[in-house]
Amino acid sequence: MTGIAFLLNGTPVRLGEISPTRTLLDFLREDKRLTGTKEGCNEGDCGACTVIVTDQAGPRAMNACILFLPQLDGKSVRTVEGVAGPDGQLHPVQQALVDHHGSQCGFCTPGFVTSMAAAHTQGRQDHDVVLAGNLCRCTGYAPIVRAAKAAEAMAVPAWMTDPDLSFSQISPEGSGEAGSLTGAFRPTTSDALADWYAHNTDATLIAGATDVGLWVTKQLKDLPKVAFLNGISDLRQITAGADGTLRIGAGVTLTDLRAAMAGPHPHFAAMLTRFASEQVRNAATIGGNIANGSPIGDGPPALIAMDARLHLRKGNARREIALEDFFLDYHKQDRQPGEFVEAVTIPGAAPGLRCYKLSKRFDQDISAVLGAFNVTVQDGIITAARIAFGGMAGIPKRASAMESALVGQPFALAAFEAAKAAASQDFTPLTDMRASAAYRLEAAGNMAIRYFHDLSGVAADVLEVRA
Ligand SMILES: Cc1cc2nc3c(=O)[nH]c(=O)nc-3n(C[C@H](O)[C@H](O)[C@H](O)COP(=O)(O)OP(=O)(O)OC[C@H]3O[C@@H](n4cnc5c(N)ncnc54)[C@H](O)[C@@H]3O)c2cc1C
Ligand code: FES
Ligand code: FES
Repeated sequence: MTGIAFLLNGTPVRLGEISPTRTLLDFLREDKRLTGTKEGCNEGDCGACTVIVTDQAGPRAMNACILFLPQLDGKSVRTVEGVAGPDGQLHPVQQALVDHHGSQCGFCTPGFVTSMAAAHTQGRQDHDVVLAGNLCRCTGYAPIVRAAKAAEAMAVPAWMTDPDLSFSQISPEGSGEAGSLTGAFRPTTSDALADWYAHNTDATLIAGATDVGLWVTKQLKDLPKVAFLNGISDLRQITAGADGTLRIGAGVTLTDLRAAMAGPHPHFAAMLTRFASEQVRNAATIGGNIANGSPIGDGPPALIAMDARLHLRKGNARREIALEDFFLDYHKQDRQPGEFVEAVTIPGAAPGLRCYKLSKRFDQDISAVLGAFNVTVQDGIITAARIAFGGMAGIPKRASAMESALVGQPFALAAFEAAKAAASQDFTPLTDMRASAAYRLEAAGNMAIRYFHDLSGVAADVLEVRA
């Protein structure tokens, strides 16, 4: 790959010989001495390293600690140092934080400022969602949220809009050529990726790097040969087929997926609001979530409950399988060397779909159990059932005994109680730091009961406290 170029607080930066897995955070703090961006966890959890990354999709908050420099090629990065105006004028969110006593410890506050500034530029008002990826362990969020609300009415400052941003000029050498970034390839089409990966089967694919980033920052792994997928625009499309089927490209970010699902699959979209945090969703892709093969990934159970099909490609050969058949065993998937995930297809509607995420913390937490239910009821009889769980086995897995307990039965509580009882035939979960085996089994069964009440019209929102 030739060198990379991006705007840093409005100034072009061109880099030639760099390690492809050098993180933006290390570059900012060590090379640029932009130490306003803090290192808290170095694994995407705390938001202290939040920066604003702008591309054709607009400005988005991301965690610099798990962003590799080549992911920024052709983009604009704004750090907390670039949020105030050129003459030192405070950004409206900075002024509001001062006015509302929202400026707390010096470690987290820069990350709050950048998250809030990105959201302010986008005109967002869902501050709880925006700030879920910024941890504060001291006096709490109330003054911060008050500041975010107060800043809503203030205009976006002119200096935040990068008026002369021209991505083709920033990236003069073009991407995807072999060159000075040793061991790195950044294709712009899936055809180029297919060709290269079929001949470089030992390479690691990097999409959003929200899993792979931690292999580098936490496991200290060397990745000698990598391909960056985030420049491939044809993998980032969501298209509707003539039969209403939705084809979701592997490179679609969780943020874009969540927005696209709000209409056809609102309960899936609602669950995705609890997928990691704003910063992580802005980088993470659905292809990475599937290919990573984690037993506690949130996307696969919901997609399996929708009867999703997975589209794989190696060179010019393509194949399609049921998503549930992709997961063979713990961290073992049906993927050949040199083969990559191209897309996943789902039906355009699934009115019976509900997704229940259970985690210790409501926001930004990995699931202990994720249950996805999708039954069809005709004339009071359950005619079809697809149920899948995460966190209950070494893979995201269908609950065939629970399904059998439902199909053919009248839609009534008794059928769902039988399904609950059948959960132990489907699963022998593990005990780990997130939950005990007994708790997991009980919770999974209870989700079947919750699902019955939910479909019956009883409010089942866990955030609503009722007398
Ligand atoms: C703080 C934090 C919170 C998180 N919370 C959640 C959560 O709530 N729920 C959840 O499910 N996950 C969560 N994750 C995990 C992660 O964000 C997701 O798994 C994400 O979808 C991974 O996507 P990515 O694009 O970042 O993948 P990457 O990290 O780029 O890649 C992940 C794996 O997939 C492979 N890969 C990527 N794209 C392809 C492709 N097209 N074809 C073949 N292989 C490919 C890579 O080689 C790698 O093995 C969290 C992560 C962090 C850091
Ligand atoms: S340092 Fe905690 S999210 Fe990056
Ligand atoms: S702002 Fe840092 S702990 Fe609260």
